[in-house]
Amino acid sequence: STAFYYLNDNFYCENSPVHQIENELEKTSGCDDDDDDRSATPLYIYSQAQLHRNIQSYKDAIQSAGMSGRMHIFYAVKANPNLHLMELVRKQNCGAVTVSGYELKAALNTGFVPEMILLNGNGKQMWEIRLALKNGCMLNVDSYFDAENIISVARQLQKTARVLIRVNPGLEQSSTPVHSYLSTALKNSKFGIPLHQFDQVLELLRAEHFIQVVGLHCHVGSTIRDAFIYSDVTRILLDIRQKLITQGYAHLKYLDIGGGLGIDYYHGTNQEQSPLSSTGELIQAIASLLPPDVEVIIEPGRSLVANTGILVTKVLGSKKSPDGGKNFVVVDAAMNDLIRPSFYQAYHHVLPVRKSISSEGTYDIVGPICESGDFLAVDRRLAQEPVKGDLMAIMDIGAYGMAMASNYNMRARAAEVLVDGNSWKIIRRRENFESLVRTMTAD
Ligand code: LLP
Repeated sequence: STAFYYLNDNFYCENSPVHQIENELEKTSGCDDDDDDRSATPLYIYSQAQLHRNIQSYKDAIQSAGMSGRMHIFYAVKANPNLHLMELVRKQNCGAVTVSGYELKAALNTGFVPEMILLNGNGKQMWEIRLALKNGCMLNVDSYFDAENIISVARQLQKTARVLIRVNPGLEQSSTPVHSYLSTALKNSKFGIPLHQFDQVLELLRAEHFIQVVGLHCHVGSTIRDAFIYSDVTRILLDIRQKLITQGYAHLKYLDIGGGLGIDYYHGTNQEQSPLSSTGELIQAIASLLPPDVEVIIEPGRSLVANTGILVTKVLGSKKSPDGGKNFVVVDAAMNDLIRPSFYQAYHHVLPVRKSISSEGTYDIVGPICESGDFLAVDRRLAQEPVKGDLMAIMDIGAYGMAMASNYNMRARAAEVLVDGNSWKIIRRRENFESLVRTMTAD
């Protein structure tokens, strides 16, 4: 079941009709300049219940695999750093994996337990390492120079750094069938320590008083839909762990298998080819291989938040290409709001917010940005012809939607709304001209 559904041809988020949220928001937009933007769209809407369900399905899977207390969910903040959503995740006793100093601050500010915050990244700066260490967070070691930097900060602070070593197992592209930008553990990836450099980094760390290696980390990529990839990674990490134990490493408590579990973006349109249908299969694949003394960290981002959110956009008009080959529907959302279709050729399902009886057709749904690459959906069969003023919902934008939004074309980033049953609240205000120029003007 999902939080988004139709009732009497109206599209709902939980118990709230989406067009009603848009309507009310439009009325209260409180802008008194006639020439300024009063529209409520584009608008991100999230379901609190869906977020809870997603976390619960991980917890259920962990429990039924007999891994309770031994498998920890660390939310990958990059997928959606809205503080309100982060706080909801934290209240479910999850940890957080962060990739910048500010993500780390956001995790601390929203109450994540410092011991359950991990600072990851292949280019950590000294202030970021310091921030993590001062607060007692864990860090990933991504390279030789990263190890040197962490050591130097730990010495300065006279504080023991708990680190996980990020391994790059050097997989072949063919073994991770995802978009090349979304693969992170290939031979030529910029992430992690390649196996042939592993001993060198280890030697550096082992000689250091203020370093405690508490585990191994590997993140193979994103949008993964095959459980065997996680079994492979678990085996690789277990092998390395075994080797380290024979070398006398005693504190290797954690295996961090990374995140990356994909979701079904296709909503039953038959384009989905994946055999991996549930978090259960992923957890099972890992759990079945684990010796009893190992604890596991998983770092889901997308699979926790993607299907919690929709992007609501308004149709501005439509036009046809000269040869009639294309029907363009121009909407008020654009690649600056959602870059995934342009950047990864990603598919996002599109649905009308109010169903009407009208003719079927094939459309490109495009935004107002001055780039031909500004599209949200291409050659899409829609059951009705979108007309001016219609609202459309772009599905599954809870992960890497707002998180990757920009101000290109001086567009203000959209507002975010959180729905809980039949009530809703704004969890991020929309930007405006003032907020865009603030950093360019003298105080
Ligand atoms: N852990 C690490 C070390 C990561 O690099 C990532 C994502 C995750 C966890 C979470 O992966 P997830 O469960 O969300 O797949 N912008 C792209 C996705 C980039 C993912 C980068 N790393 C997109 O829109 O699909």
